[in-house]
Amino acid sequence: MDKIVINGGRPLYGTIEVGGMKNSSLPILFATILVKGECVIENLPPIDDVSSALSMLQSMGAEVRMLDRTTAAVDTRNIRCGSAPYEEARHMRASYYIAGAELGRFGRAVVPLPGGCDFGQRPIDQHIKGFEALGASVSLDGGYIRAEAPGGLMGDSVFMDVVSVGATINIILAAALAEGVTTIDGAAKEPHVVDLANFLNACGADITGAGTDVIRIKGVASLSGASYTVLPDMIEAGTYMIAAAATRGSVTISNVIPKHLDSVTAKLREMGAEVEENDTSVVVSAAGASFKGVRVKTQPYPGFPTDMNPQMCVMMCLAEGDSQLREGVWDNRFRYVKELVRMGAQIDVEPKMAYVKGVGRLTGASVKAVDLRAGAAMVIAGLAAEGTTEITDIYHIERGYENMVEKLKALGADIEKTEAPESFRSAAV
Ligand code: EPZ
Repeated sequence: MDKIVINGGRPLYGTIEVGGMKNSSLPILFATILVKGECVIENLPPIDDVSSALSMLQSMGAEVRMLDRTTAAVDTRNIRCGSAPYEEARHMRASYYIAGAELGRFGRAVVPLPGGCDFGQRPIDQHIKGFEALGASVSLDGGYIRAEAPGGLMGDSVFMDVVSVGATINIILAAALAEGVTTIDGAAKEPHVVDLANFLNACGADITGAGTDVIRIKGVASLSGASYTVLPDMIEAGTYMIAAAATRGSVTISNVIPKHLDSVTAKLREMGAEVEENDTSVVVSAAGASFKGVRVKTQPYPGFPTDMNPQMCVMMCLAEGDSQLREGVWDNRFRYVKELVRMGAQIDVEPKMAYVKGVGRLTGASVKAVDLRAGAAMVIAGLAAEGTTEITDIYHIERGYENMVEKLKALGADIEKTEAPESFRSAAV
């Protein structure tokens, strides 16, 4: 079994460059299904989820060319509706964007139900509500999402019951080529929603209001190929900000949009770390700092991101005072706590609340990555801990972070990825 081994207690120093945003790249890649012509997408992060998305499009009949390690040319003119590969689709949450795009282009969609990190319930009722508002009939059976709009899609108003990034994006995809105007009230305001809208507008769509809670999509007859550069990944950036603070180092995180990190910056400053904001970078320093306990509630953007929950929990463990971490988005995002407890953390957990004792230090142990962001948090814990930490199930981390081990090694971390022998690895699959 591949694992990451860390000898902790070494401050991180230097500069780390952030890649393109995973949760922006995936909807943009699947949105190319709507486009008649070749799109060139730049600043794609070379991570497993992006490779999976490109290979899924290819197996559906798209022409995919990698122009360099972060730039893909995608032409979906010949894709076949309903041909998303089941096994690949079921391992990724974002594969459900194929439904909105197929429905928007073909007036029907047949897409495997999505997978993704296990945070308890991950319903798709708001996606279905949006598709039905546009005139589609939707059913879930046999492990598939099936949607039909034989008479074509007709724009309408959709009032969201919950703020959902995925549903907001899927409704935009379905509405882009629909007759008439669609408004989404209660839309998600995440930067990746704005990125998708900007990409589609570059292809000729007519979308306004992205980034606010009311988005208006005026359907257009067709979309043509365009070139587009994906936003920097705010969660990757936030992860390395916390790694810098937790190891009491001094790190410049470059190629970021500091505004997207406001909530993380505010909390790190409140705890006692220094954060300097420049045009396209932030510098996090915490040499000799002692951290105060804080209260954090994760919320939809611009609130503190739920995808920074586990990383912030590690910081809270290192504080002198106690903290509270309330999960405002997912039903149960605290499965990772039992792994932190192995490292000396003292945390009382309820489904949506963690009471974190400021133990001040952690000790190395053998732990698991239980999901993507929890895995990143275990790396941060290992970097900050005294002694050696071994992390298994690191495939979770590789889904969303490019070359994390190499990037951290360049900052002075004593970190290695050990690969299991081929025979053992195949057995482990
Ligand atoms: C996206 O998931 C991200 N994934 C998640 O990041 C992120 O945690 C989440 O947005 C919130 O920011 C991708 O973009 C691929 P939601 P998504 O729909 O779209 C409820 C990561 O680490 N809900 O915004 O699936 C839902 O249960 C991943 O990169 C409904 O009730 O999240 C949750 O409580 C993990 N009905 C809340 O809304 C629905 O139809 C937010 O979910 C849809 C969602």
